[in-house]
Amino acid sequence: MNSRTLIETAKALVADAKGLLAMDESNSTCDKRFAKSGIEQSEETRRAYRELLVTTPGLGDVISGAILYDETIRQRGKDGTPFIETLVGAGIIPGIKVDIGAKDLAGHPGELITEGLDGLRVRLKEYVDMGARFAKWRAIIVIGDALPSRSGIDANAHALARYACLSQECGLVPVVEPEVLMDGNHTLSRCEEVTEDVLSSVFSHLRAQRVLLEGMLLKPNMVLPGLSCATQESVDEVADATIRCLLRVVPAAVPGIMFLSGGQSGELASARLNAMHTRAKEPLPWAVAFSFGRAIQQPALEIWRGEEIHAKDAQQALHHRAACNRAACRGEYRGEMDRKSSEQTSSNNNRNKVAVA
Ligand code: 13P
Repeated sequence: MNSRTLIETAKALVADAKGLLAMDESNSTCDKRFAKSGIEQSEETRRAYRELLVTTPGLGDVISGAILYDETIRQRGKDGTPFIETLVGAGIIPGIKVDIGAKDLAGHPGELITEGLDGLRVRLKEYVDMGARFAKWRAIIVIGDALPSRSGIDANAHALARYACLSQECGLVPVVEPEVLMDGNHTLSRCEEVTEDVLSSVFSHLRAQRVLLEGMLLKPNMVLPGLSCATQESVDEVADATIRCLLRVVPAAVPGIMFLSGGQSGELASARLNAMHTRAKEPLPWAVAFSFGRAIQQPALEIWRGEEIHAKDAQQALHHRAACNRAACRGEYRGEMDRKSSEQTSSNNNRNKVAVA
């Protein structure tokens, strides 16, 4: 393990108020999203979509890194250039999702455990040879009546720590993602309690496995009320609860916190991230940024719909959402940025309709 390289990579990923583009959906998740938008589900459509993402003009000005999936890291653009090369050329650091998904946790109805530790060292080495510089692993925690259980939390925290240490041994910065899901009718304060418990367990396992905290990044959920909870707190209340929770459990040695979006709309995710910056009374000990999937990609996917004619507008929409999130990392995001952009998109759609007719 070269600690200096890990620390430099982690710092580069959070530098300059940029964040990560999560484009590491598994084939089945990607296909499900394509199906919802009426897009054909095949290796070629997934490749074409990912090519659109990585070739977005100016993307490197607003994001620092992109998380790829095993299929995607091996793919190339139409001109034969590997996606990794395109990203590096745009000043974007390539990363890779290394878990192989969540399965039912035996003996724990309703809980999940993320798999992928067996043979991980060999896979990590292959990704390093391909040019990856950081690695993500997602653990999923469900809130329910008697969930999560102590043993469910600890089993996931242990797996996260094992993967993180193996990643550092191979020279990859671990992006440690314990996601407390938004699904359910739980309150914001229940989410805060569970998130604090999960993160405490994660950091205790990371220490036990001797993970270098300065050479990792944390990718947590924001502290939110469940999607079907009757009380939905304001943007400011969510921002305050999230920062309060993180300050209690995330050591200052960790260089950055890069939130997942978890199904929030793009605008809400940006507004909440922005409020974390504008409401902080003192400088936060870590960089606070984004590692969004849907909250950056969704508008682009809906515009593209699998048709080349929409590719440029889709890229504009992708760049716009990433730029909004970069502005949020500086406390400079305003809702008007999105209103102006949706007016622009609808005028472009009309232009395309005329072109097709
Ligand atoms: P979302 O932002 O869509 O939650 O995706 C982030 C991610 O990487 C999930 O593992």
